[in-house]
Amino acid sequence: MQFFRPNLNVANSTVNDISKLYPVPDSVKAIIKTSCNDCHSNYTVYPWYVNIQPVGWWLTNHINDGKKHFNFSEFAAYPIYRQYDKLGDVIELIDKDEMPLSSYTFIHRDAILNAGERTLLIDWAKMLKDNMKSTYPADSLIKPKDRKK
Ligand code: HEC
Repeated sequence: MQFFRPNLNVANSTVNDISKLYPVPDSVKAIIKTSCNDCHSNYTVYPWYVNIQPVGWWLTNHINDGKKHFNFSEFAAYPIYRQYDKLGDVIELIDKDEMPLSSYTFIHRDAILNAGERTLLIDWAKMLKDNMKSTYPADSLIKPKDRKK
C-alpha cells in the first residue's frame, strides 16, 4: 500500500483535507463526520437554532475556537510536527473522553462516541503517528524551537 498520497494543488475547500495525505478508513470518516466535523472541519452544518441568541453566539464561538485549534479540512497543510502533535491530542482527548465537548453532545446525542468508536479513532491516530515516525526524519516531528541545535 502506498501510504502517502500526493497533495494535489486544486483550489477547493477539500484540497488540504487529512484524507488527501493519509488513509482515513470509512469507519473513521463516519465517526469524524458525525462527532467532530461541525467544530473541526470546513463542513460545519449549522443547525436552525444558530439564529437564536445566545445559542447561536455560543455555538459559532465553539466552532470558530475548535477550528482555530484543529481542522481536519486543513490538516494536510499543517507542518509535519503540527500534524504529529495534533494526532497526539486526538488520542489524549478521546481517551479522556473530552471530545466532542459535552456541551455539544448534550444537544447532538448522535455525536456521543461509544467505547468501540473511541478505540477505533485512537487506534487510527496511533497508526498514523507510527507511520509518520517511520517515514519522516525524526527532527521534522518536533517543533522547530524544540529541535536540538
Ligand atoms: C462543539 C464543538 C466541538 C466538537 C463537536 C469537537 N470539538 Fe474538539 N475542540 C473544540 C474546541 C472549542 C477546542 C479548543 C478548546 C478546548 O480544548 O476545549 C477543541 C480542541 C480539540 C483538540 C485539541 C487541539 C489543540 O490544539 O489543543 C483536538 C485534538 C480535538 N478538539 C479533537 C476533536 C475530535 C477528534 C472530535 C470528534 C470526536 C472533536 N474534537 C469534537 C470543539 C469541538
